Amino acid sequence: MTINAPEGTKDLLPNEAKFWNRFKQTAFDVFGRYGYVPIETPVMEQTELFVRGIGEATDVVSKEMFTAISGENLKRLLDGGSIKSKSRLSMRPEGTAGVVRAAVQHDLVPQGAAPAKLMYAGQMFRAERPQKGRLRQFNQVGVECLGADAPTIDAEAIIMLMRFYREIGIPEGSMRLLVNSMGCDECRPAYRELVRAYMNEHADELCETCMTRAEINPLRAFDCKNPGCAAVMENAPKITDHLCDSCREHYEAVRALLDGAGVAYNQDPKLVRGLDYYTRTVFEVQVDNGMGSQNAIGGGGRYDKLAEEVGGRPTPGLGFALGFERCALALEAAGVELAPAQQCDLFVACAGADAPEVRNAAFSLVQQCRDAGFSCEMDHQGRSLKSQFKLADKLGAAKVAVLGPDELAQGKATLRDMATHDETLVALADVTAALR
Ligand code: HAM
Repeated sequence: MTINAPEGTKDLLPNEAKFWNRFKQTAFDVFGRYGYVPIETPVMEQTELFVRGIGEATDVVSKEMFTAISGENLKRLLDGGSIKSKSRLSMRPEGTAGVVRAAVQHDLVPQGAAPAKLMYAGQMFRAERPQKGRLRQFNQVGVECLGADAPTIDAEAIIMLMRFYREIGIPEGSMRLLVNSMGCDECRPAYRELVRAYMNEHADELCETCMTRAEINPLRAFDCKNPGCAAVMENAPKITDHLCDSCREHYEAVRALLDGAGVAYNQDPKLVRGLDYYTRTVFEVQVDNGMGSQNAIGGGGRYDKLAEEVGGRPTPGLGFALGFERCALALEAAGVELAPAQQCDLFVACAGADAPEVRNAAFSLVQQCRDAGFSCEMDHQGRSLKSQFKLADKLGAAKVAVLGPDELAQGKATLRDMATHDETLVALADVTAALR
């Protein structure tokens, strides 16, 4: 029996892996221009971090986390014992909680300092039901800006996100940017009660899950995919009508900055996002083509209380993450080529491949060209000269150096330009100069 990759995981085959590298590099180049610096945090964290940071009642924490228990502790649990909460580890379902934990642990945002602007790229894990654009292990690129609550930070991050999509090639007209404000501790509790009361009035039109949500976190009902629930929630009280003065001013300032920068967006008072840490600004970018129901290619928002939730001093924060696999689907749907063809500057072909001195000279020439910075390849399987040319063609070689006993006797190789078919005899020591 062959063993395949686990359900919901995906091998990134060479072309996709190449594109993932380019994707990360492009993102880091763009974000670097806005002052973001890289950070790497572990793929595993204490489960408690996600419970406190993302919220126990969210789907991500209550249903979708992969929790890891080491062998010893597993035995202890199976024997009916208990383990310390420090030993309960979960694979990160997202990057924000870990980055904020690291910032608190290493005091990356000392009081009075400029905001810490951090960016990251890596695998996230969610035990969701796999479908197109929804994986159990997927790749995200994200940023977190810690230590400033000014609306300019929110607007700057959104502008930067849209710039990245443009640079990676997602057609502008195919994207929709949604923005909303989630309010804060001052205005959200009263709003939440209004939504709960509204849901109770419409209890017979809402699904069972939504009515359970009404008890724990009524705002989650805005995410329900059930058409009946969506119709009811369409007329629910809108958060933007119930913001306190400072949240309203903050939201207006963010929108004014986006307007000033010419960024098109739609206000969506139903956008609540699936993670409990958000306060004030939230945003999401969606596309329609090639995506099915998993159409969010990125999203984020402000989380001014998260650092305190994980034991730090009050530190406002804002960030976003974008899904690599979903962006790749959006690009494919738009007909954009993901990875450029393999580059090969020179293929060294052996005429008389069975002569060891010819093979050895070819081997040395290949190393010499690579040392000089050229991508170079040769045959390793004793192919005929004709097959070696076929291989050179397949690799997209710009030039082929043919080396046989006659050439070798003169210390030379025949250099053929694969586009013009011109051939010149070049001294082995001058091949790299000829390539230049
Ligand atoms: P999120 O909306 O949960 O936010 O995920 C961000 C992006 O990751 C989504 O828009 C989507 O493109 C991708 N994504 C999420 N789940 C999956 C999945 N199962 N399969 C494939 N792609 C997926 C966050 O993760 C927040 N940490 C963003 C943030 C940063 N907020 C503040 N700072």
